[in-house]
Amino acid sequence: MDQSESVMWTPELAIAAAVVVVIGVTQYLIYRWRNPKCNGVLPPGSMGFPLIGETIQFLSPGHTLDLLPFIKKRVHKYGPIFRTSLVGRPIVVTADPEINSFIYSQEGKTVELWYLDSISKVFKQDGEARTTAGGGVHKYLRTITLNHFGSESIKAKLLADIQRYVNKVIGHWSSQPSVEVQRQIMAMLYDFNAGILFGYDPEKSNEKISESLITLAYGFMAIPLNIPGTQYNKCLKAQKKLVNTFKALVKERRQASVATVAARGDFLDQALRDIEIEQFLTEEFVVNLLFGISFASGSISTSLILMFKLLAENPSVLEELTAEHNEFLKQRKDPESPITWEEYKSMKFTLQVIYETLRLTNAMPFLLRRTIKDLNIKGYTIPAGWTIMVTNSALHLNPRTHKDPLDFNPWRWKDQDQYSISKNLQPFGGGTRQCAGADYTRVFMAIFLHVLVTKYSWKKVKGGDISRSPVLKFGDGIHVSFSAKA
Ligand code: HEM
Repeated sequence: MDQSESVMWTPELAIAAAVVVVIGVTQYLIYRWRNPKCNGVLPPGSMGFPLIGETIQFLSPGHTLDLLPFIKKRVHKYGPIFRTSLVGRPIVVTADPEINSFIYSQEGKTVELWYLDSISKVFKQDGEARTTAGGGVHKYLRTITLNHFGSESIKAKLLADIQRYVNKVIGHWSSQPSVEVQRQIMAMLYDFNAGILFGYDPEKSNEKISESLITLAYGFMAIPLNIPGTQYNKCLKAQKKLVNTFKALVKERRQASVATVAARGDFLDQALRDIEIEQFLTEEFVVNLLFGISFASGSISTSLILMFKLLAENPSVLEELTAEHNEFLKQRKDPESPITWEEYKSMKFTLQVIYETLRLTNAMPFLLRRTIKDLNIKGYTIPAGWTIMVTNSALHLNPRTHKDPLDFNPWRWKDQDQYSISKNLQPFGGGTRQCAGADYTRVFMAIFLHVLVTKYSWKKVKGGDISRSPVLKFGDGIHVSFSAKA
């Protein structure tokens, strides 16, 4: 090469070249971020800023019962299936009921259960636990939950136990000028369910299980910022405390005599007996099981809390509900006798109120799955390894399915048959992973209402502001005053 053609590498030139390379690489990375690799056509949408994606927009709250503003805006702009990126992960959001049903049916074939990393951390789900959560383990989870919370247990024991417990709790509330029902309802549910799970009695125990579970519930959907003072940090501490409590409980039970264990027969006893039979069952697994079910079983609380607000704002619903339950009292020989399964099954209007409350609560506004393989649907491809956010809440708030969807109108369910109800109302998910606590939830809500409207008068004193980001929250709570009916 001729001397005159060679480049003189001065420091300025080297810096300029480095800048050009950095800009080029950055532009390439931004291009790749915005246009992820796909063996087909990706759903429309935007991946937002590199790394954070659209997380900030996603967390921006809504102040009505409507769909999360993030999802509503994008469905309007792109249609019912779109792509985005949240907390560093590529995600396809679907608000299309047909696609949602298809995704439910693909469990274990092209998709698997999946939680975002911050949630997994709270639930201690590592990669291995996620993949083994299929097959036998999943079947076991369902069976043991249904054994203790399913219809046989409900008929044999829980109907009467719930009624007695709710009576005691509301009786206590009525002895105070007013109570903030959000916290109280959460505590009521966590305490009662812990009784079914491991014989917990809040009056006899030094451990305030419900306090840790409430902290966990407030924090697990918060921004995952693990620094002292944040909700997420408190949530991780509560998680640790609960796991230690459950570990100690499991140790204690394993050391207890056979006679003591046989006498109790609760969820924990069954799990400990099953360790001898099921290969995958270990003490650690039982601790995680107790932790997961304790938490999941509290999901009823959001619906019960919202119910207070909805009934206070819709007196005609409360009137018809009260009339239905007073009729049961009239029909009984002894009005104080416990509720029967037949009575529960004949609570027509009550069930409509429960359906309508579940529809508007959207306690789990979306479910998460991950694609195991490329998944082709309606002309789009969702690449393997992407997260899918199935928004069943979109079905509940769709004006084409439910006229005036934000109205609390239990009568809309009056003439619907079981097929259209299960098609248009899916608060418990679908497919093989459908909620194992669905019957228990409906029964608990129905008995709570029975006790509330037959034995107590109540009035909302203040509060009831709501926000959704993405779970439903009740600002400063709802303050209610109760008094026993004469
Ligand atoms: C209003 C109350 C409740 C709602 C809205 C609710 C919602 C759900 C949903 C949507 C799922 C499916 C999750 C997914 O597919 O990713 C689910 C699963 C589950 N729920 Fe619930 N749930 C409620 C109450 C309960 C209660 C009271 C219990 C326990 C007694 C419970 C135990 C479970 C269990 C064990 C699963 C996993 C089922 C499986 O993987 O087969 N849930 N729940």
